[in-house]
Amino acid sequence: MLYCTLYDYDQTEEKTLRQTPTIPPAEIARQLDLCDQVRALLDRRPGEKRAYVDTYGCQQNEADSERLRGYLARMGFGFSDTPEGADLVLVNTCAVREHAEHRVFGNVGALSHTKRRHPDQVICVCGCMARQDHVADRLRRSFPYVDLVFGPQLLWKFPELLLRKLTTGKRVFATDDVPGAVAEGIPVVRQNAIKAWVSVMYGCNNFCTYCIVPYVRGRERSRKPEDILAEIKELAEAGYKDITLLGQNVNSYGKDLGLDIDFAWLLEQAAAIPGDFLLRFMTSHPKDASDRLFDVMAQCEKVAPCLHLPFQSGSSRVLKAMNRKYTRESYLDRVAALRERAPDIVLTSDVIVGFPGETQADFEETMSLIEEVRYDALFTFQFSPRRGTPAESFDDPMPPAQKSANFQRLLARQNEISAEKHRAYVGRTVRCLVDGVGTDGRLTARTPGNRLIHLEGDETLVGTWQEAKITDSSTWALFGTVESMTF
Ligand code: SAM
Ligand code: SF4
Ligand code: F3S
Repeated sequence: MLYCTLYDYDQTEEKTLRQTPTIPPAEIARQLDLCDQVRALLDRRPGEKRAYVDTYGCQQNEADSERLRGYLARMGFGFSDTPEGADLVLVNTCAVREHAEHRVFGNVGALSHTKRRHPDQVICVCGCMARQDHVADRLRRSFPYVDLVFGPQLLWKFPELLLRKLTTGKRVFATDDVPGAVAEGIPVVRQNAIKAWVSVMYGCNNFCTYCIVPYVRGRERSRKPEDILAEIKELAEAGYKDITLLGQNVNSYGKDLGLDIDFAWLLEQAAAIPGDFLLRFMTSHPKDASDRLFDVMAQCEKVAPCLHLPFQSGSSRVLKAMNRKYTRESYLDRVAALRERAPDIVLTSDVIVGFPGETQADFEETMSLIEEVRYDALFTFQFSPRRGTPAESFDDPMPPAQKSANFQRLLARQNEISAEKHRAYVGRTVRCLVDGVGTDGRLTARTPGNRLIHLEGDETLVGTWQEAKITDSSTWALFGTVESMTF
């Protein structure tokens, strides 16, 4: 077991070294006052106020929406699960692939009808799409009923922007490319009482040639370790059982802080916090996944035995064109180093099929990599050109039909591997966290490695750790019964 102690450092030293701008606490206090002003304005309207928050994209966006909900709650809003009749609709968008953008435009388009029926409704669009100039232009021109648009870097200013809209009656577009900062003290309304997100850093410096994220989320900036650890402690004390640390590349955590700390250190500190919880994290960039991180994973019991390690392509040639800064060989070396320390680790990944210039031989290398690694699950994406990224203008000779055939082949083979991996659980008894009730009335639970179990059992078990006997499996899930109940 690693020696896990809580960290203590001289904060005066930190003040001189820190490079990431922080929004001053007085500024956040001002935003909270502005929430009260919004509330006073809305109180003049009859009835209870309801907000509908619609979130797209990754866990980072989910975490952002929880903070936006925190502000909304402070403004006096309750929450509804439909835009129909809501006083405020907030659409938190994702720009990572074209499909995500189409869905957002379709759903924002449909809001013209709800607004017609409820003309006082305030419609806000925020998140990654909102930071793109062409999206802001389109919203300005073609969606005149959208009242407020702001990018992720200005989330902390939401109360001020909303109040401006309400007091002037004019549309507000806060979509400029402002440098990102770290804002502490924004209230949070969490969506789950068992699982929680904790952002450890924001933004990305990696500029993979296909990816829009660095353009819309800005440069990497880390939260101070004491703020992160205090949040985790609070969550543990409140009874949260499953805490995920978030960042686009958590392995670069701390590089901007000017302190001699890294993500492995942070994880070790978090694992030393007392409580009955598991720690997960995402995402890890393979180029920065260190032996030291793997040691902490293998030796700290609170760190969940799973790793999401996106490989994107099995071909070193394509990885170079993607600017991923590792090769097939160095990626496989990282997997071997991890499995040497933690042989039963659950491994998941992301892969892109049809990157511009990918040949059939390159794709075969992706197929052979998934055979070699045998991931428990894989998130498979077809390349989607993103405006302003280098890969948008790369030569792309492979016919779309060939890309689709490759994509289907990869999916089919991975489904077989996932099913085989799941079959190996049948007959075993595994520890799991019961986290909800599915639409079919059965319980849902997760193994420490994050495998989904459909569980026969009683609703009162939600939020508890149980031993489950696995009786069956499929590509996507395990099926089981509670073996012995513990509360
Ligand atoms: N930061 C994470 C990393 O580097 O692994 C990934 C974050 S990204 C939001 C999630 C996944 O979306 C990526 O791993 C990649 O597979 C996929 N992705 C990003 N841009 C894409 C694009 N233009 N086309 C297809 N898939 C894309
Ligand atoms: Fe995108 Fe690459 Fe950054 Fe991940 S590491 S968010 S894929 S640029
Ligand atoms: Fe999408 Fe932005 Fe996340 S582009 S995947 S919501 S960082």
